[in-house]
Amino acid sequence: MKIICITGTPGTGKTTLALKLSKALTFPVLDVKEFIKQKKLAESYDQKRKCAVVDEKLLSKELLKEITKVKKEHYPEGIIIDSHLSHYLPSSKVDLCIVAKASLKVISNRLKKRKYSKLKIKDNLEAEAFDTCYEEAKALKHNLLVTDTTKGIKITSLLPKIRGAMR
Ligand SMILES: Nc1ncnc2c1ncn2[C@@H]1O[C@H](COP(=O)(O)OP(=O)(O)OP(=O)(O)O)[C@@H](O)[C@H]1O
Ligand SMILES: [Mg+2]
Repeated sequence: MKIICITGTPGTGKTTLALKLSKALTFPVLDVKEFIKQKKLAESYDQKRKCAVVDEKLLSKELLKEITKVKKEHYPEGIIIDSHLSHYLPSSKVDLCIVAKASLKVISNRLKKRKYSKLKIKDNLEAEAFDTCYEEAKALKHNLLVTDTTKGIKITSLLPKIRGAMR
């Protein structure tokens, strides 16, 4: 079973891309936000930023268990893991790590629409400016494919690249 993880700063279009890719490849998507809620994996809640605080190692361990379960019960050809923490999965298990990117202006507009606080928008823009997800995924030796969603996602041109890059 192929494992594709989609990482990137919030607002870069991971979920949008995951859904399009899921349709094109007929792989299910593991919605990590929902998974964290279901499994009660949040250690605490950041009141200032209005988000759950999750330990990456614990999440990665639980995700691997869940992936094994999906494989045993549904034996799909592949699975898509949608999360800005998905690159913490061991690179040896992941066939492709897609990093979604977007211009700072576009991310800022997308997050404003979500009514995120100024602090949360600033944090996320900084993370994107420093390429945090990309740098972390690279350091963890993932098989990387970067895609920019600033001007939208063209799944027909992206799909051959994804197929070609998959281990
Ligand atoms: N390619 C795109 N073209 C236009 N709008 C997009 C595109 N991708 C995403 N958006 C819009 O940007 C917003 C954020 O996208 P999305 O929810 O996919 O990001 P995300 O990376 O999954 O964020 P999070 O990490 O918070 O889950 C959404 O409102 C979505 O409609
Ligand atoms: Mg999302």
